[in-house]
Amino acid sequence: MKSFTVGEFIVETQSTFPGSSGELSKILSAIKLASKIVSHHINKAGLAKEILGSSGAENVQGEDQQKLDVFANDTFINALSARGVICGVASEENDSYIAFDDRVNNDAKYVVLIDPLDGSSNIDVNVSVGTIFSVFRRKSGKGTPVQLEDFLQKGDNQVASGYLIYGSSTMLVYTTGNGVNGFTFDPGIGVFFLSHPNMKIPENGAIYSVNEGNLSSFKQPVKDYITYCQSSNNLEDKKPYSSRYIGSLVADFHRNLIKGGIYMYPSSANAPKGKLRLTYECSPLAFLIEQAGGRAISEEKRIMDIVPKSLHERVPFFIGSKYMIDKLEELIKSGT
Ligand code: AHG
Ligand code: MN
Ligand code: MN
Repeated sequence: MKSFTVGEFIVETQSTFPGSSGELSKILSAIKLASKIVSHHINKAGLAKEILGSSGAENVQGEDQQKLDVFANDTFINALSARGVICGVASEENDSYIAFDDRVNNDAKYVVLIDPLDGSSNIDVNVSVGTIFSVFRRKSGKGTPVQLEDFLQKGDNQVASGYLIYGSSTMLVYTTGNGVNGFTFDPGIGVFFLSHPNMKIPENGAIYSVNEGNLSSFKQPVKDYITYCQSSNNLEDKKPYSSRYIGSLVADFHRNLIKGGIYMYPSSANAPKGKLRLTYECSPLAFLIEQAGGRAISEEKRIMDIVPKSLHERVPFFIGSKYMIDKLEELIKSGT
């Protein structure tokens, strides 16, 4: 495979990013830079005690903010605000959106929504974590400060989305609506190389990812689907599916994208609307999975059709191989 760097790949595919005159490369270069800094800190987290553990603060979700949540958030926001191509950012770690309200950025065409550190509860136990991002063209008038409406757009309007996974290696996986490509970071030379061109999720899979600790309060169709996964009559080799749940959405998603599988975060007693946020977790991954040949639903609805009502809106979330989602959807629609 020709060793494309992300930069070279973007130049080669620039024409596929609608109406862009280099903005995509600037947005992705900001994300690349921030991810290298975050990756470096994550990889030494075990040594640098000052960046481990809780920050002592809570985010808007009432969740305990890890120090690295705050560090990653600051790093991505600083990198994104510095290139004059984004008029504002909405982040899991900020109550409201951040307007880059100056002349240059007010003329910018794009907004970014971000989960700066996904799976952060896993930081202190050395388990893979990630960053998830979503890019929209602004709806409000150029030359004016960004508005809330710019961030509350349905997933179908995304012009790009992707994630970083900080695991055994650091990878960037993104789409601009023309397929999904994965790039692996070479820390020796500080460059991301194309390692997974044109990623496609297997149409069927034998891995299901869900927190089964919440099983008793799942809706019946979800319980029935999990029983189906555990039965041995649904695969040619008459074996049940494997249960794999890491507790970092990006890590579970990435494994299922490569091997085939389904990730579920249903509504439950302690998460009546589900846990995952539509705007900066579900929609960006839904864009990626559909580009890779998979599906993403929220009970009866397609994720990419849902117009968010608020920045931190939570929805039940099911994403993965087409035939696995089809089967779950069949049970949901029959209301078993
Ligand atoms: P975040 O760290 O950004 O809040 O996301 C955590 C999410 C997701 O990454 C993971 O799959 C899920 O929370 C795990 O939730 P449970 O511990 O409730 O299973
Ligand atoms: Mn998250
Ligand atoms: Mn997070």
